[in-house]
Amino acid sequence: MAKPVIYLDHAATSWPKPPAVIHAMIAAMADAGGNPGRSGHALSLHASEVIHDCRESLAELFAVTDPLRIAFTANATEALNLAIKGVLQPGDHVVFTSMEHNAVWRPLKALEARGVSLTMVQAGPDGIVAPSAMAQALQPNTKLVVVTHASNVNGAINDIATIGKLVRAHGALFLVDAAQTAGCLPIAVETMAIDLLAFPGHKGLFGPQGTGGLYIRPGLLLAPLREGGTGSLSHLSTMPEIAPDRYESGTPNTPGLAGLQAGVEQVLTEGIASLRARERQLVDQLWDGLAAFPGVTLHGPADSTLRTGIVALTVAGRDCEELAGILDQDFSIACRAGLSCAPLAHATLGTEVTGVLRLSLGASTTANDVEAVLTAFRVLLR
Ligand SMILES: Cc1ncc(COP(=O)(O)O)c(C=O)c1O
Repeated sequence: MAKPVIYLDHAATSWPKPPAVIHAMIAAMADAGGNPGRSGHALSLHASEVIHDCRESLAELFAVTDPLRIAFTANATEALNLAIKGVLQPGDHVVFTSMEHNAVWRPLKALEARGVSLTMVQAGPDGIVAPSAMAQALQPNTKLVVVTHASNVNGAINDIATIGKLVRAHGALFLVDAAQTAGCLPIAVETMAIDLLAFPGHKGLFGPQGTGGLYIRPGLLLAPLREGGTGSLSHLSTMPEIAPDRYESGTPNTPGLAGLQAGVEQVLTEGIASLRARERQLVDQLWDGLAAFPGVTLHGPADSTLRTGIVALTVAGRDCEELAGILDQDFSIACRAGLSCAPLAHATLGTEVTGVLRLSLGASTTANDVEAVLTAFRVLLR
């Protein structure tokens, strides 16, 4: 029989999904098979309700007053593209950090070629960006500031609330990439002065792949990424101005959103505080255990209040990709090695040549899993 997998790649996508998520998806396929927002029959209306319930659960989680301000997307990358390309015009200026994922960096570079000017704020060697450095980068024509809530490379957490206040006082828009934090850290859009919040459904919210979304502050009208395929205001030749219809083109992923709603409900029931306390206990156990091995360098803030469930490391004289391959083949430990789609972040941490071995913990991780990793390292580094 195959060995059970020790899954430490939650920063890429969470696994296994809770049974409630799988059941909700099956129920949606069986009972809510109509096309939502298109027809007036019961199956179509049921599908619309499934999707609205998901919006309401997310609104509760992120303290959003109007659930209709949450537009669903296929993933966080699409949400970030919608926010960035929907806001910026030639002549605008945008500020971002050196810890951004390429889901932010590449759309920004594409817009730079079309006349948007960029300022990158350098994070410290631990991956955290100083709010004062963000403030210094603001210019009179700064339209947008983009900050990752936490790094996908080393888990370093940024002080979103403080940066949000600075950005709002300046009159720019604040886009937060919550790919690593939605469902893991508290997020309240108004108190944190967040205008745009991009999130995946498939990581800390326990939903299936193919889900994500963008919160858009009331009063903001973005250019849509795509046109056509909405069931509302069909007589118009242009996209409707109402949200979320303006941003949701084509038939949505109803079974996926049914699963996402069940995932978000699980987060709400367990509570972010309790999920986070458990994660911190395990990540401390892993960090402290790995720190004791000679030759191991841990990258990121040592204080776990400043880090998510990620431990990023390099081992002197060893190749990260090779180590990840051995962990997979010989120990059934699933993790990630390399640049993790964030070359700027690696340049910040000084790991652009080596990459890192990234162990990312999640809700299904146990203390025994952490012990198994430490045992594997004892063998590997003997
Ligand atoms: C910080 C960050 N931003 C954006 C993304 C893109 O998310 P998705 O895979 O849902 O498109 C990721 C994915 O790992 C991420 O870690």
